[in-house]
Amino acid sequence: MDKACFDPSYGIDWDDLWRQQLREASFRTLGADRWNAGAANWGKAMDGTVSSNYVEYLLSRMDLSPDMTVLDVGCGSGRLAIPLAKLVRHVTALDQSPAMLELTIKNAEAEDLRNIKTVHMDWTKARIDIDVEAHDIVLSSSSLLTLELREFLNRMDRAAKQRCYISWGVGMAVRDARVCQVLREEYRPTPSHIVIYNQLFSMGILANVEIYQTAGSRQVKDISSLVKTVAHRAHGRTFDEATEEKLKDFFAKEMVCQDGSYSQDMSSCTALISWDKAGPRLATGI
Ligand SMILES: C[S@@+](CC[C@H](N)C(=O)[O-])C[C@H]1O[C@@H](n2cnc3c(N)ncnc32)[C@H](O)[C@@H]1O
Repeated sequence: MDKACFDPSYGIDWDDLWRQQLREASFRTLGADRWNAGAANWGKAMDGTVSSNYVEYLLSRMDLSPDMTVLDVGCGSGRLAIPLAKLVRHVTALDQSPAMLELTIKNAEAEDLRNIKTVHMDWTKARIDIDVEAHDIVLSSSSLLTLELREFLNRMDRAAKQRCYISWGVGMAVRDARVCQVLREEYRPTPSHIVIYNQLFSMGILANVEIYQTAGSRQVKDISSLVKTVAHRAHGRTFDEATEEKLKDFFAKEMVCQDGSYSQDMSSCTALISWDKAGPRLATGI
């Protein structure tokens, strides 16, 4: 009898599509150097002044219990690792950027949390069970900032004993598109969650997707810190004085000013992709 086969990629190289779209995206922050350079700004302009229900929402959707171990891949400043450490037995906070890990360490010390271990590593090169042991839960929150999608996902799946979670943006980022209009540049979006989902499918992983809208705002006293954040996210470029002024004007008009500080809407549409290790896998041939 003839063999019956099924090509879960439908002939599309999703890994390559991801690489191409991310390479060309108007906004992206790839590589440890960019994050080392941005850490100081991240700590001040972003962490301290953004209020959002993102973390609360994400944690409420994760199935956690106090005896679990969690691996937070691309932990950044510990936005998730810190609250997670209060909910589970142990958190490994992994990042490629020493400067971002410093922020996690500082934030963990400030809360006297002793159950967080930091690991400095590029996840796409990590050897599972040698560099990093398996954890009950593996999380990637807004950290899939790598050209190597398949390597990243494959390691997440192998490092998880129970479940994986990926939180990633959906579709067009309207705020970014507006900035491109100000710069008079074509807006090229970062790849959406759908590419991640399809890459997982082509690896035989049947994931669940939940789309959610988070609400938030960012408060800044000095508008130029927003221009710095844009520069960091736009490949770490530098703007000439005239462009900086244009961006400042744009932000000043876009933001509400009250009591000497500006407030920017930070609501966003996010996808939570998750899969169980014990869940069904795709059959690709009989
Ligand atoms: C946008 S921040 C997100 C931080 C945190 N997960 C959160 O939700 O606040 C992205 C972080 O992922 C890290 N990252 C990106 N690619 C990585 C990789 N291949 N290996 C380890 N860390 C990575 C960056 O260094 C950065 O600190």
